[in-house]
Amino acid sequence: MPTTSDFRVFAAAALRSPATMGTFLATSPAASEVLAQVVPRSADPVVVELGPGTGAVSEAIADRMAGRGRHLAVEIDTELVDHLRAAKPDLEVIEGDAADLRKLLADAGAGPVDAVVSALPWTLFAPALQDKILQEIAGALAPGGAFSTIAYLTGVVAPRGRRFRRRLHRTFDEVMVTSTVWRNIPPALNYVCRRPR
Ligand SMILES: C[S@@+](CC[C@H](N)C(=O)[O-])C[C@H]1O[C@@H](n2cnc3c(N)ncnc32)[C@H](O)[C@@H]1O
Repeated sequence: MPTTSDFRVFAAAALRSPATMGTFLATSPAASEVLAQVVPRSADPVVVELGPGTGAVSEAIADRMAGRGRHLAVEIDTELVDHLRAAKPDLEVIEGDAADLRKLLADAGAGPVDAVVSALPWTLFAPALQDKILQEIAGALAPGGAFSTIAYLTGVVAPRGRRFRRRLHRTFDEVMVTSTVWRNIPPALNYVCRRPR
């Protein structure tokens, strides 16, 4: 469960960097659980989380992994990185930009990735950055791997949200949409993508 310190650190980051945070509230446990469903409950998966923030989604991923495999988290904000390293010592936190994903993973000695889980604020990113990060994810996934990302219901129908969804379809052969998770502020759904084109 999120601590008071998580709330404080998250709000401070949202004030400091609105363009990379995109919200003042961390993802709820209910939405985190749905996001993390692409994480295999068996074997030793390599799982990459993009934009872990204060670790709300990290907890749902860790629950499914139950100590197996590798759970790496790529976070761009130095203060969030420091907070995560102190609060979640079992998480492999990588300070860096998701746009450099394959290089970051190579530097960490991590092989093909079984699941990528993202809570990045996609609709705030320029189209070129969206494409770059999606290509990095597609290139990092193992055959049979899956990518899940949260989208706020409020943004899905907006032009930026529709454009992002078209990008997902251009990048992946399969793009599934979950039902809406109402126990999140704002309500959210997830895209689950497989088989990079
Ligand atoms: C909406 S917050 C989500 C935080 C947390 N995962 C959650 O769901 O509560 C977005 C996170 O993505 C991080 N972020 C934004 N752009 C990034 C990038 N290019 N590479 C890595 N992390 C990024 C932000 O610093 C922030 O922690």
